[in-house]
Amino acid sequence: MGEIKDGCPSLLVFVFFLSLNIVLLVHGQLLPIVSDRRENTSQIQTFIVHVLKPEGSNFLGGEGLENWHKSFLPNTTLDTGEPRLLFSYKEAISGFAARLTPEEVRDMEKMDGFLRANPSRTLHLQTTYTHDFLNLSTLFGAWSTSNSFYGEGIIIGVLDTGIHMPHPSFDDTGMPPRPAGWNVSCYLQTPCNDKVIAAQSFDTANSTTPATDIDQGHGTHVAGIAAGNFVDNAEVLDQALGRAAGMAPRAFISVYKVCWKPGGCGSAGVLAAIDKAMQDGVHILQMSFGARPPNLPTSFTEDDVAVATFSAMQKGIFPCTAAGNNGPDPKTLSHAAPWDMVVGATTTDRRIRATVTLGNGTQFHGESAYQPNMVTNQFYPLVFPGSNGQHSQLYCFNNSLNGTDVRDKIVMCNIGGLDNIEKGKVVRNAGGAGMILMNFERLGYTTFSDAHHLPVSHVSYKDAIQIKDYIISNSTPTAKITFGGTIFDIHPSPALAYFSSRGPAKYNGNIVKPDVTAPGVNILSAWPLEVGPFPSGLKIKTFNFESGTSMATPHVSGIVALIMSKLKNDNKRQWSTSEIQSALITTANTFDLDGKPIFDEATLNDRANILQRGAGQVNVAKAMDPGLVYNIEPDDYVAYLCGIFSNNSQDVQIFTKNNTQNCTRSISGEQLNYPSIGIQMASRSASTTISRTLTNVGDAREIYNATFIEPPFVRIYLSHYQLSFTRLEQKFTYSITLTMNGSHPGLGVIGEGELSWVSSKHNVTSPIYIAF
Ligand SMILES: *[C@@H]1O[C@H](CO)[C@@H](O)[C@H](O)[C@H]1NC(C)=O
Ligand SMILES: *[C@@H]1O[C@H](CO)[C@@H](O)[C@H](O)[C@H]1NC(C)=O
Ligand SMILES: *[C@@H]1O[C@H](CO)[C@@H](O)[C@H](O)[C@H]1NC(C)=O
Ligand SMILES: *[C@@H]1O[C@H](CO)[C@@H](O)[C@H](O)[C@H]1NC(C)=O
Ligand SMILES: *[C@@H]1O[C@H](CO)[C@@H](O)[C@H](O)[C@H]1NC(C)=O
Ligand SMILES: *[C@@H]1O[C@H](CO)[C@@H](O)[C@H](O)[C@H]1NC(C)=O
Ligand SMILES: *[C@@H]1O[C@H](CO)[C@@H](O)[C@H](O)[C@H]1NC(C)=O
Ligand SMILES: *[C@@H]1O[C@H](CO)[C@@H](O)[C@H](O)[C@H]1NC(C)=O
Ligand SMILES: *[C@@H]1O[C@H](CO)[C@@H](O)[C@H](O)[C@H]1NC(C)=O
Ligand SMILES: *[C@@H]1O[C@H](CO)[C@@H](O)[C@H](O)[C@H]1NC(C)=O
Ligand SMILES: *[C@@H]1O[C@H](CO)[C@@H](O)[C@H](O)[C@H]1NC(C)=O
Ligand SMILES: *[C@@H]1O[C@H](CO)[C@@H](O)[C@H](O)[C@H]1NC(C)=O
Repeated sequence: MGEIKDGCPSLLVFVFFLSLNIVLLVHGQLLPIVSDRRENTSQIQTFIVHVLKPEGSNFLGGEGLENWHKSFLPNTTLDTGEPRLLFSYKEAISGFAARLTPEEVRDMEKMDGFLRANPSRTLHLQTTYTHDFLNLSTLFGAWSTSNSFYGEGIIIGVLDTGIHMPHPSFDDTGMPPRPAGWNVSCYLQTPCNDKVIAAQSFDTANSTTPATDIDQGHGTHVAGIAAGNFVDNAEVLDQALGRAAGMAPRAFISVYKVCWKPGGCGSAGVLAAIDKAMQDGVHILQMSFGARPPNLPTSFTEDDVAVATFSAMQKGIFPCTAAGNNGPDPKTLSHAAPWDMVVGATTTDRRIRATVTLGNGTQFHGESAYQPNMVTNQFYPLVFPGSNGQHSQLYCFNNSLNGTDVRDKIVMCNIGGLDNIEKGKVVRNAGGAGMILMNFERLGYTTFSDAHHLPVSHVSYKDAIQIKDYIISNSTPTAKITFGGTIFDIHPSPALAYFSSRGPAKYNGNIVKPDVTAPGVNILSAWPLEVGPFPSGLKIKTFNFESGTSMATPHVSGIVALIMSKLKNDNKRQWSTSEIQSALITTANTFDLDGKPIFDEATLNDRANILQRGAGQVNVAKAMDPGLVYNIEPDDYVAYLCGIFSNNSQDVQIFTKNNTQNCTRSISGEQLNYPSIGIQMASRSASTTISRTLTNVGDAREIYNATFIEPPFVRIYLSHYQLSFTRLEQKFTYSITLTMNGSHPGLGVIGEGELSWVSSKHNVTSPIYIAF
């Protein structure tokens, strides 16, 4: 609560498992490799080991596979008696997770079939209204005009902290029966229903842990955004009152609990969940977690989750991931694989207003969900204990206000270091009357409508400067906080949240990431616990505002369910995952509701660039009917990986899980048939020709003309300026030549342009990124 959601604040890099009583996998026949070295218990870590089956081998079923995996281990149990093997993966990767010491891993490297071992990483977790903001429920919106049937028939696999089943967002009223043949367990204290059709847990320490979400709320919130059922009169402390619904309120939810408190989400369990979700038959993998600095992957070989989503993509399962909450710095993306949809976060036009009025009459509009009735004409002394330069007072940390007289005063606190709501408690416990929560420079304009415990206004950096000016220039500064309720039509919106992680990802061959943005600031969705100053514990129908790319991602997962459901109901071919990505990317809005470029809230006056917002804000109605799509075959991705790994077949085989598949074809990232275009042009004489292939999924007969905006210093030439389609599924390949035009702006500069194929009905736009 009150903090941007990227999960657990403690930074455990490796998870140690101390629990003794563990029975995870049934043991079969063992093939021990004898070693007389006893393990050094303090060095035992969970490793994810990638192995390749020997040529011609054919392991049927789970047990043979599991025994073969065990044959790589020095011993089946640790000194404590715990099994070494944690997970034996069937589909997601070729390999297993086991408890080993680094030395034992080194011994394993010599064994036949061994490819690579990575320590399990700790990954971090990163709406009455957003369906309206995205125009789903309006008269001409995607819900009413398309055959999407609210996502009916599509199964969204939500990998997160579990789910609070009793919440009305997960009521199965109006839901169709479960898919035929669906037979997956429900590790919950309550039975599953026809909305939440499975709930499983992937705890490496206890295989019977229920998939409930009573202590964190993140998974409940995320599931509600993606596919929560309709709930009338949803509100947070009476604010934002309305009808709550997820993006795909009729889609099924299958829950995979992989994130714990404390500890975050271990990649070994995440892989086990992806493995199981693939076997269960989900259509979408909703994943609001990822690595964060300084532990971001520096290569795909370190990113085991990308290996698993590669397998999912090959089966037509759509991986949807959060960009991360590590903005506004560049190169902070948690995910970068082209087959992963990577989603950044934007604001909506709604605010829960809490206004600061200074003693001299100047007003600043901030936010807070808790809006008590106050005597509105009473001013309080305004104090800034942190102005003395003391770090702990500046941030209002626990006990920092000891010995400072804040009784019946309004206290100014910087955001950061401690949950916002906890800061409020520090002020309240010290006797403060209220709190002004101030952004520091990097946080710019993004403010949160948290469910505080005392009168609070969270204000932007710009406003914070003026409030600080006022307190410095006045001997008896005073202020009051008044509450304006729920306000709409705030401009500019959507705007990029400061925390949304930004590209480039240096190891993905100039593929533009993030792909798109979606609402991710102050999103109202289901919550297990009552919030605000007078909480009464677990409640059935509570909602909460949460912010993060964690909240943006399930918007896209739900929209993908709408697209898949529409194709099904229209009796159309299901699109590949890359074609769905294409539909979302080529139709995204680069402009906000005023028609101006999307604004970056981290800065005072800058537009967000292509490495910050990707192609722009998802446009649901247009993504349902893109006209043309760019497809990428799994083989093209293999060729791309051969390019990334300089034809090192062994690294590629981690992804293909096929020991006879070598690099026979290799392409650069620029040549991948990706819907956005990323090109490196490092010199004055640089010139590149790439090709792209479009597939017609619009009307049978449609003529598209090319229009483009050239990036600065670059000329664009096309092989075709008009494409005339005469039938559905028809493909056209064209080439684009980009050449430097005279001068070079200098290494490290970013250039932006776009290429659009426009018919009377459709506008298929590829954003262009030039890395100079
Ligand atoms: C075990 O590993 C720890 C941590 O690396 C090290 O400090 C310790 O000396 C090792 N103990 C033995 C017996 O090797
Ligand atoms: C195998 O594990 C047992 C404990 O279960 C231990 O006593 C034994 O030394 C181990 N053997 C090897 C070769 O590591
Ligand atoms: C939603 O529809 C309204 C009215 O047609 C339009 O002004 C607005 O730009 C649309 N919003 C989005 C996000 O497309
Ligand atoms: C579901 O799976 C369980 C356990 O594997 C089995 O006992 C049961 O018969 C299955 N039910 C159906 C309908 O397939
Ligand atoms: C595992 O979880 C179950 C269900 O919560 C609990 O009853 C059991 O005590 C746990 N076992 C251990 C070893 O923690
Ligand atoms: C600060 O207080 C909160 C709430 O009482 C508590 O959860 C947290 O652990 C405390 N932090 C420190 C550093 O003492
Ligand atoms: C502040 O007061 C609390 C409770 O009285 C005490 O535990 C803490 O040590 C004090 N902290 C400081 C920095 O004086
Ligand atoms: C109040 O003080 C602030 C900060 O010094 C200043 O920016 C503002 O103009 C003042 N307002 C009035 C009405 O004087
Ligand atoms: C492995 O790759 C080879 C060569 O590309 C191919 O012929 C074979 O079908 C692949 N095997 C599997 C199981 O995909
Ligand atoms: C793949 O490469 C390995 C060694 O690099 C070679 O032995 C094998 O024949 C190659 N396989 C194919 C299908 O080219
Ligand atoms: C495409 O260009 C032709 C002229 O080259 C023009 O007649 C036609 O209207 C254009 N179509 C669209 C959809 O702009
Ligand atoms: C097509 O969409 C792009 C991106 O939104 C926009 O810049 C361009 O003006 C549009 N073209 C037409 C003809 O509407």
